Amino acid sequence: MPTESSGTTSPFDSTGTTVPAGTAGSPRNDGPVAGRPLRVALLGCGTVGSEVARLLGEQAAELAARAGTPVELAGIAVRRPDKHPELPPGLLTEDAAGLVVRDDVDVVVELVGGIEPVRGWLLAALNAGKSVVTANKALLAEHSAQLFEAADAAGADLYFEAAVAGAIPLLRPLRESLAGDRITRVMGIVNGTTNYILSAMDATGAGYAETLDEASRLGYAEADPTADVDGYDAASKAAILASLAFHTRVTASEVHREGIGAVTASDLVAARVLGRTVKLLAICERVIDDDGAESVSARVHPVMIPRGHQLAGVGGAFNAVYVEADAAGELMFYGQGAGGSPTASAVLGDLVAVARNRVAGGRGPRESAHAALPVRPMGQTPTRYHVSLDVADRAGVLAQVAQAFAEHGVSIAAVRQRDANDTASLVVVTHLAPDAALQSTVDEIAKLDVVHEVVSVMRVEGEDQ
Ligand code: NDP
Ligand code: HSE
Repeated sequence: MPTESSGTTSPFDSTGTTVPAGTAGSPRNDGPVAGRPLRVALLGCGTVGSEVARLLGEQAAELAARAGTPVELAGIAVRRPDKHPELPPGLLTEDAAGLVVRDDVDVVVELVGGIEPVRGWLLAALNAGKSVVTANKALLAEHSAQLFEAADAAGADLYFEAAVAGAIPLLRPLRESLAGDRITRVMGIVNGTTNYILSAMDATGAGYAETLDEASRLGYAEADPTADVDGYDAASKAAILASLAFHTRVTASEVHREGIGAVTASDLVAARVLGRTVKLLAICERVIDDDGAESVSARVHPVMIPRGHQLAGVGGAFNAVYVEADAAGELMFYGQGAGGSPTASAVLGDLVAVARNRVAGGRGPRESAHAALPVRPMGQTPTRYHVSLDVADRAGVLAQVAQAFAEHGVSIAAVRQRDANDTASLVVVTHLAPDAALQSTVDEIAKLDVVHEVVSVMRVEGEDQ
């Protein structure tokens, strides 16, 4: 994603205190402010952290009015203080571990990323009774249970709206607004980098490698794009979404993960021929077996979806998430999933929530993991496949292919054939079947003498079963 500048004007005065917007001569009248300030330790002042610091300064008066108390920076920890001449030296430190437990700190805003040493800092902060706001999906997707336990023990808040889908208010609706409903499915585009690449491949017909190069050149993909293109980032987000939606602890390592590296220009062409496009989706579902047994499935992989589907129209680096709940029906959340300023919006919303809780003497929502549903392995998860084959164009070929599906108990929904010389192009779309059965079918078909090439294999979503 392209990074955003932290602005040219400093939100700090010469003492290092944040300066409310309008203090140069026209202070706003934003209503009464009660209580002592909420003191913030900001860990990390990069793409997101610098925007949080800027907005804390520029919108200080409004934030104080909304929060019910002023929100002030107590300190900022960075790795290389000499690289931050824009920040007041009095606030800067390299010692994040020391800053988070300081007596004058009420809340820690963590915008460093990664698991260690951040996990240790946040546990120390929570153990010392500080609330925590973080955008760190990688940490939450593996260690949220430990962090929630520490928050509970200390009576502190743990908020992380920015960890999934940037600016889009998504986790608060799952944690709070939909707490009275039964969510059955969360499906969406939660990684902007891969969505940008797939959108560009669809638009230009170019291959994956050349489109990734272009995305890197334009600043959409990071110098090391592995976490995005291999699906790790989306898998962390899927773990967080599944945990909240299904009141069950799901970690990133339990999420089935496939990136976009194997998506070819042929896949995009095959999709286009059938009125579909390809997206990398995070799909979290509550699955109910015939015997009524419930489980949770969480997966990230490329899928073909109809071009008319709401998610197909989400282009570039945007995110969109589709939620289905028993009573609410279908809901769609859409917006900027990354970038300094959009992500800072979500962080500041969490900070205001912490401040309001403190003013009211309460706490925000705790972890809700009461359902403790088992996580279903991918092989047992029901999916649908689109298989595109080049086959010999002679009698009995279709029967052999159909036989392979039948032997694995996979029901075919549609077959389409186009002829070219003595080769036929065959597309098979299946009904729902366990993913392992579909994989085995494709493996067997690839070995048939009559099959010249398996052109494209992709799961299908967003259509009637
Ligand atoms: P950046 O790499 O831009 O910034 C990281 C910051 O952390 C830098 O200021 C860096 O210091 C500081 N830092 C690194 N190591 C240490 C250390 N050991 N001690 C103290 N400070 C340290 O990251 P982003 O702002 O992009 O991301 C921050 C978090 O937000 C991550 O968890 C990310 O996943 C999440 N996020 C990011 C989004 C985005 O669009 N960028 C969107 C949604 C979530 P220095 O400046 O001195 O190098
Ligand atoms: N790398 C992520 C993306 C940033 O491309 O969506 C937001 O989490």
